[in-house]
Amino acid sequence: MSLASESALQRLAVETAADIGLALGQAGQVARTPIRGSVVATIAPTEGVDDAVQRAADAFKRWRTTPAPTRGSTVARLGALLRANKDGLATLVALEAGKIMTEARGEIQEMIDICDLAVGLSRQLFGLTIASERPDHRLSELWHPLGPVGVITAFNFPAAVWAWNAALAIVCGDPVIWKPSDNATLVATAIHVLANRAAIDTGAPADLFTLVLGGTDTASELAEHVGVPLVSATGSTSMGRALAPRIAARFGRALLELGGNNAAIMAPSADVELAVRAVTFAAAGTAGQRCTTLRRLIVHRSRRDEVLGRLARTYENLPVGDPLDPHTLVGPLIDATAFRRFDDALRALRDEGGDLVVGGGRELGDDAPDAFYVRPAIATMPRQTELVRTETFGPLLYLLTYDTLDEAIALNNDVPQGLASSIFTNDMREAERFTGPNGSDCGIANVNIGPSGAEIGGAFGGEKETGGGRESGSDAWKAYMRRSTATVNYGNDLPLAQGVRFG
Ligand code: UN1
Repeated sequence: MSLASESALQRLAVETAADIGLALGQAGQVARTPIRGSVVATIAPTEGVDDAVQRAADAFKRWRTTPAPTRGSTVARLGALLRANKDGLATLVALEAGKIMTEARGEIQEMIDICDLAVGLSRQLFGLTIASERPDHRLSELWHPLGPVGVITAFNFPAAVWAWNAALAIVCGDPVIWKPSDNATLVATAIHVLANRAAIDTGAPADLFTLVLGGTDTASELAEHVGVPLVSATGSTSMGRALAPRIAARFGRALLELGGNNAAIMAPSADVELAVRAVTFAAAGTAGQRCTTLRRLIVHRSRRDEVLGRLARTYENLPVGDPLDPHTLVGPLIDATAFRRFDDALRALRDEGGDLVVGGGRELGDDAPDAFYVRPAIATMPRQTELVRTETFGPLLYLLTYDTLDEAIALNNDVPQGLASSIFTNDMREAERFTGPNGSDCGIANVNIGPSGAEIGGAFGGEKETGGGRESGSDAWKAYMRRSTATVNYGNDLPLAQGVRFG
């Protein structure tokens, strides 16, 4: 399998961006593609955090009193623009994040889906009416817009995770300030063009959507800015550990979606055929670069050899290569650092008694020395070592064995992270136990599907070092609003609560 040339990739970036309405600049920050490790575009610089917050604050004054269903029409327009530009945006995601095209399209579909959800939500932002203990009093809960929301996103979902936050924030009445990953500025700039167009087309404030490009300093400025009541940040646990205290120090709200170390339990009754397909997608798909990627497979001892044999055969034949080629299933790692971490883990696992069964080698290195393609790897481990408890953001699956379900659940939970988890079983008692209160401690607990690839309808996020935030569906919208408890006395007397008499 050969890779497209550097100039062909550049042409593709320029032409695709132009179709979306983005003229790529001559000066600014370079955007690279992991397909060759080469530069594909130059992105014009944006304003700084202070200016963006100022503009967002002005937009907020008008937006917070705009009726929510009207706010929804801006998100509906954004959804329509995303639909119309789905292939172009997917191509940019494939170019800049290295995702295979079907996954890149899926990511844009995820944006469209959350826009649809948010539009419906714009007519359903409801609060409670509570029975008051006092006569002629009405006690109710009102949900009001919060203010500008800072959204910090990672390279691996350069589009969808912004949309989870932005679509909800906009219908909730909050302008959005986006700081994308340094590795995904082209995708972000293209989406920003469409978001601005949606605002203009629907008569919304021009500054509803702002974009600030920059590195960790920019993220810190957003975290520390008192004009940003909510900062939603997706990335590594170490990034969250650096930002969270800064947000807390000014009593801002943080919505964190950090590292995962997701496991799947394969029980004796598992449908192995189905499970092997699910495991392969979850562990090797996206080159192991999802926060929901399967990193630990906990197999019942009775099925170990069969499962390992099947997985190894599948892994040996996985097409690794150019993500723009429709036959490819595994694209490149994002950069040299990602490769080094993957490679370091492969070496370290041996020191902890592990055995690399399949994969790990670098591929296509002669054709593209600055690109990092690897064969997804599986290593058997004697126990859940420190390395296994650490998230390595690449296609490296550790295999552990178990004898009792209690032991398997304990292994599932005995990691610092708590994002996603799965069990493969045809025993309904095991399935219920796993999803129940003494089962998986993760924010996501699946049965007979892998831990990745969640739909937007549910709340997304996890516990412990994953950060505790919930984004996307269900009632995650409440994070983007402030709750006001309003007690209204429509009588002529002044009864005090708790029967207090005063004067
Ligand atoms: C992420 O990797 O940060 O559930 C998000 C999934 C996707 C989202 C992943 N819907 O794998």
